[in-house]
Amino acid sequence: MKIVVTIGGSIIIKDHDYRKFKAYADVLREMKKDHEVLVVVGGGKTARDYIDIARGLGTSEALCDDIGIDVTRLNARLLITALEDDAYPAVPHNFSEALEFSQSGKMVVMGGTEPAHSTDAVGSILAEFVGAELLINATSVDGLYDKDPNKYPDAVMFEEVTTSQMMDMFKSKDIKAGTYEFFDQTAIGIIKRSAIKTVIINGDDPRNLVKAIQGKIGTTIVPE
Ligand code: UTP
Repeated sequence: MKIVVTIGGSIIIKDHDYRKFKAYADVLREMKKDHEVLVVVGGGKTARDYIDIARGLGTSEALCDDIGIDVTRLNARLLITALEDDAYPAVPHNFSEALEFSQSGKMVVMGGTEPAHSTDAVGSILAEFVGAELLINATSVDGLYDKDPNKYPDAVMFEEVTTSQMMDMFKSKDIKAGTYEFFDQTAIGIIKRSAIKTVIINGDDPRNLVKAIQGKIGTTIVPE
């Protein structure tokens, strides 16, 4: 199967711990034995810190986004470092480069592409571009909830959600650099238009990626 994995910065760079990168590299290597895997890495708090400094300096939202993209690419380089020979040694800056690099047979790891969306959108566009059969979104919660589970203990997780339901849920969210909330609208639109099977999982444990392939975990976004 061809699989695109998006790893939130909130997961992989949260503790600035090399062991997280190693743990992800081990699981991704395991997956690579049976599947073609392409990875997109997010920026996390590091990206938001850099964006805040740029915004404080009075620069445009597009440049703030661009600085966020640089951080996602730096995180991608760390994962490439952890994957050693199993990864293509350079970070693609766009989708045609990703496709070109994937022809090497090595795992492709990228960050952001252009301003005005998050790496969730990059993951969905990459999945569309390479014709992936599955998109896995590794995030900091177990799946998609009816409200923020970090704030509301009575939040309920959806096992399945349609793209239209998601569009309704996220339509009022911010579209500013560093604040593309939980799942950005561009990503939902792409998943919908190309009917990409997508699973949102908790990425704290990288082994959840394997469970997502088996369909045993998280929230499945049902394309309609
Ligand atoms: P993230 O994808 O990590 O954004 O990219 P996020 O959703 O805010 O953070 P997570 O999911 O908690 O990690 C960091 C920032 O980089 C810019 C955006 O400003 C984004 O908020 N970015 C990233 C882009 O503008 N374009 C891209 O393709 C990727």
